[in-house]
Amino acid sequence: MVDENLIKSNERVKAHGEVFTPKRIVKQMLDQPELVESLNDLSTTFMEPAAGEGAFLTELLRRKLSLANRLSTDLKSYEANAEIVLSSLYGIELLEDNVEVLVMRMYHIFSQYYFQAIRKWNGEGSRKVNSSAMTIIAANMQQGDAIKKTTRDGSPIIFSEWKLLPVINGVQKVQRTEYTLDSIINGGEPLDGSTPSGKVEQLNLFGFDDEVDEGPKRRFKSCKLVDIYKEEMEEVKS
Ligand SMILES: C[S@@+](CC[C@H](N)C(=O)[O-])C[C@H]1O[C@@H](n2cnc3c(N)ncnc32)[C@H](O)[C@@H]1O
Repeated sequence: MVDENLIKSNERVKAHGEVFTPKRIVKQMLDQPELVESLNDLSTTFMEPAAGEGAFLTELLRRKLSLANRLSTDLKSYEANAEIVLSSLYGIELLEDNVEVLVMRMYHIFSQYYFQAIRKWNGEGSRKVNSSAMTIIAANMQQGDAIKKTTRDGSPIIFSEWKLLPVINGVQKVQRTEYTLDSIINGGEPLDGSTPSGKVEQLNLFGFDDEVDEGPKRRFKSCKLVDIYKEEMEEVKS
């Protein structure tokens, strides 16, 4: 059996309940029949609220990127599908060093599968694809307190919804909208003050129903999945 470091120190176990889940258990849990359908959909959202070093998120990422590889017809479609996969995985972790490992692992796995896809379709890697992947990981893996719903400096944890827009002329665009974790849990106020989509299904992470009040005027421009890294904003008039 491969050695796994499931505990870093007794102090950390006492202070933060930090005991990582063994890979074997993670796999068994994700093999449950109830999850088969969700794992066969690239955009099904998952949130690990006490993520540690990403025991579940990293295995979910592997499984979803394998699926993306099988569903894609060429390198371009794989690149778009892989960004969709990344945008579906969210994590919160209290401790800085764990978040660093988590982010690094997510990016490493993304890169490994991207490399396989490049070889499979005999193509070339794109800087835009890698940068957009990193932008999504940084937005979706948050350091903070999942109970208080705040970051280290006490400000609200903010997550992005990556809403896929209808494909026009073969081009898939995405609309990024930010929400506080508090509003996600309590029913929805996007930070750009617009009406939430209410269309995200599966775990319903961003599935709000209510009309919303005004909020800060921030909105990301809709863009191609591989242009996410540009993080272009537009002003929204109230
Ligand atoms: C039992 S470990 C589980 C880690 C990971 N989910 C796994 O299965 O390996 C719990 C993790 O939650 C983190 N944690 C503790 N309190 C937290 C809080 N209030 N908000 C977010 N993370 C927290 C700890 O630092 C630790 O990494």
